[in-house]
Amino acid sequence: MYLCTMSKMDQIQAPVAADMVKFQGHFKRAMQTEVPLLDRVTRYIIRRKGKQMRPLFVFLTARVVLGKDSTVLPERSHVAASLIELLHTATLVHDDVVDESPLRRGFFSIQALWKKKVAVLVGDYLLSRGLLMAVDAEAYDLLKITSEAVRQMSEGELLQIEKARRLDITEEVYFDIIQRKTASLIAACCACGAASVSGNPETTANMKRFGELVGLAFQIKDDLLDLGDGERIGKPTGGDIRERKMTLPLIHTLNEATATERRRLIRLVKHHNHKDQAVQEVMDAIIEGPGMAYARKKMTELRDEAMTLLDAEPDSDAKEALIGLVDFTIERKR
Ligand code: IPE
Ligand code: IPE
Ligand code: MG
Ligand code: MG
Repeated sequence: MYLCTMSKMDQIQAPVAADMVKFQGHFKRAMQTEVPLLDRVTRYIIRRKGKQMRPLFVFLTARVVLGKDSTVLPERSHVAASLIELLHTATLVHDDVVDESPLRRGFFSIQALWKKKVAVLVGDYLLSRGLLMAVDAEAYDLLKITSEAVRQMSEGELLQIEKARRLDITEEVYFDIIQRKTASLIAACCACGAASVSGNPETTANMKRFGELVGLAFQIKDDLLDLGDGERIGKPTGGDIRERKMTLPLIHTLNEATATERRRLIRLVKHHNHKDQAVQEVMDAIIEGPGMAYARKKMTELRDEAMTLLDAEPDSDAKEALIGLVDFTIERKR
């Protein structure tokens, strides 16, 4: 009876509930500073925390690899979780500058509240605190995995800017971008989760690939949400079109459209992306076109492929929860 009333998220969190409690303190302490302005901003960030899916990926993967649910996770798993959530937070603070987004997590973004220069420097601060935390713990293997992801994320964001300028993106390039900007960090979560508890490189590689597939599905879902796939998501909708960002639903709709319709949509995105009416027209065309269903199909295929990689790991409560987290990734409303 009790189980039935538990939310999906509570069920996913259950095997790592204690780890998540410890994480909150760890994460908060990692941001502490004596600089008053920085302190105000970091406290604002802590109060408006996100879904914290990345620490969940770290802890659940670690427990899946350990294979027994009762043991306490090593400090290294905690270092990985805080490090990655710090890096993630830093990239969101920067992303809102890049995208000029006024909102994040349902509230004003840092760049909107404190101006761009503050957001840029706070992002750098969070990044450095994350990296230092791993250095202090001498967790160089975890540092290597995550630094690699940070490099890929920067490459992905820049590739995206280049493509937004020319609007010449193919499905292949889209996947290349989302692999770098989003999947690389979720891959790092799972790789670090595994590496924090096991010295077996094959296990780490398997979990990294798992995270990469889930991460691709994660970004497709984010792109669907930007088109109003969910109602109140705490971020404005239509932002991707406004930024001339070509996401899978739009790319596929263009591929399937007549030459005239294609020209019309490209003209709207290219020259009228700052007008609400034009953005709405493009959104309507995508929502009525074949792109939404196509993107959902690709997302489901990635989920299915990711799940097959879990077959290599022993069954446990943590594995059940990790499967639930993957489903949550593609079913979430925000
Ligand atoms: C948003 O990530 C950025 C993307 C990679 C699409 P999340 O949706 O995990 O953001 P929060 O942390 O829950 O706000
Ligand atoms: C994801 O891209 C951001 C990063 C991976 C840094 P988006 O620009 O689509 O993210 P949201 O939708 O604003 O969260
Ligand atoms: Mg962006
Ligand atoms: Mg987005």
